[in-house]
Amino acid sequence: MTKQVSAASVRQKYLDFYKARQHALVPSASLQPENDPTVLFTTAGMHPLVPYLMGSPHPLGKRLVNSQKCVRTQDIDEVGDDWHCTFFEMLGNWSLGDYFKKEAITWTHDFITRELGFDPQRLAVTVFGGDDQTPADETSYEVWRAIGYPPERIFRLGRKDNFWGPVGNSGPCGPDSETFFITRDYCAKNDPNCSPACNCGRYVEICNNVFMEYNKQADGTFAKLPQPNVDFGMGLLRVASIMSGSSSVYESDIYAKAMTYLHQTAPGLSVKSQRIIADHLQAAMFAISDGVTPSNVGAGYIVRRVLRRAFRLANQANLEPHYIDAIVDGFVTVYSSHYPELDKKRNAIIHEMRDEEQKFAKALGQGLKHLEKELGRMDAGETVISGQLAFFMFETYGFPLEVTQEIAAERGMTVDAEGYEKAYAGHQAKSRAAGEKLFKGGLSDTSMESTRLHTATHLLHEALRRVLGTHVEQKGSNITPERLRFDFSHPDKMTKEQIDAVEKIVNEAIERSLDVHLENMTVDDAKARGAIGLFEDRYADRINVYFIGDFSTEICGGPHVRNTRELGKFKIQKEENGRRHQIYRTTAAW
Ligand code: ALA
Repeated sequence: MTKQVSAASVRQKYLDFYKARQHALVPSASLQPENDPTVLFTTAGMHPLVPYLMGSPHPLGKRLVNSQKCVRTQDIDEVGDDWHCTFFEMLGNWSLGDYFKKEAITWTHDFITRELGFDPQRLAVTVFGGDDQTPADETSYEVWRAIGYPPERIFRLGRKDNFWGPVGNSGPCGPDSETFFITRDYCAKNDPNCSPACNCGRYVEICNNVFMEYNKQADGTFAKLPQPNVDFGMGLLRVASIMSGSSSVYESDIYAKAMTYLHQTAPGLSVKSQRIIADHLQAAMFAISDGVTPSNVGAGYIVRRVLRRAFRLANQANLEPHYIDAIVDGFVTVYSSHYPELDKKRNAIIHEMRDEEQKFAKALGQGLKHLEKELGRMDAGETVISGQLAFFMFETYGFPLEVTQEIAAERGMTVDAEGYEKAYAGHQAKSRAAGEKLFKGGLSDTSMESTRLHTATHLLHEALRRVLGTHVEQKGSNITPERLRFDFSHPDKMTKEQIDAVEKIVNEAIERSLDVHLENMTVDDAKARGAIGLFEDRYADRINVYFIGDFSTEICGGPHVRNTRELGKFKIQKEENGRRHQIYRTTAAW
């Protein structure tokens, strides 16, 4: 058997290869896209880079490389086959108006064949064949030919297969050129026109060069971007698995611990179900670690869906009570050298999952009873559960669509998924409208009152970490002259004692008349001096750090008061355990 190749070693080789070609390393951004309300999760490495692809200069230059955490839900039905996962790591490199097709394709080929050792005879590629909206990509075709690919292994495909993006409805996009590993020489479906577009399993996509020259506009037309970019993405686990001689990402070292545990403790469960449990817990683990908690809307709803689906499968297999810990630990061990935050947040993640499991366990019995009753009322011979009933099951008992579908399938029935999605979309729109009214975001003005509350936010952030623990991270804040609201990550509702303790610490800091001052420093210095705040996504070499006496050190853009004595008495007015935790206070409480 070929020796197993670790995902970490492939990741490192990739980053080194592009660093040697003058690409600056950017950290993986959060799975929660910032400033993009149209998408629930970061789905590709380019997603956090959209402003730079559109032409804003990136502080680290024109060549970037990284490994990005991604969650994609459009392939959720395929999860559990050999190659699809909800969570995956994408290795990415970018040219922001710098090199273009020739270098990008040549480096891709060199990296795969020379660094990773893929046999060039087992690779096929595709290029965009052109249509009435944008022309065929002849340049890429010629570059692949010049490298040595014979015409029969360069496929010209249409828009559906070879045009990538935008992520939402508008934004950067362009023709792409994908590289495939050829798993066998024949089509399992006997299709004489078999190509990488065929889903027979003969071709497995390993990477993709997108030549982002266009901006898809809101009216659906394509305008040229100010600069032509390259956006490259490679599936880390796919590559590591193929190099290990295995035919599934679920056999990679990343999944080894979780899958071995499931094989041993749930031998009766189908391999597909075992894979779904592992994949779904992994996706939820990363999402929770980036501050998404299970809920009925937005990204929280996806986390709820994947968790509950996994819980139900685990339930059926009678897994031992600590299976969540065992599986999460299996992933944390293998990822923690690259994602140390997982190790730090391990307890909070498991706590959140268990909490959700209990909520679901309570609803499951009652929900099943209701569903049975409804099914009993249906006409004999009727095999489709209506979208309304499936949505009712979700709204009332928290049954994700997949759970109702699985229950239906056990009875030889199906669910009207389209009807469900329609009902769900109506519900989403209502909650979104409510959410928008509630939370406009950020500092709404720079009045003295808002400035005071802004400084109070830093005191509050530090006090929460002292009382609840250093896992507390700011997830948002909203300040008006009347009150501040602070969203933060913490798995439980705060107790009265904790709220009192936080208030006391903040008020003591105010009473100590601490001076507030600003220093501009490197990111490394800020870390060394213990600054809190979001380091991820801060690419600038130097950042502003506000010091409040010896009490708080936090990355921030300001503005702030000069001394804490300018703040009045601080009072927490309300604490809610909502989609995120929230703390409100009002000026009346000063
Ligand atoms: N953004 C491109 C993809 O996701 C690289 O395939």
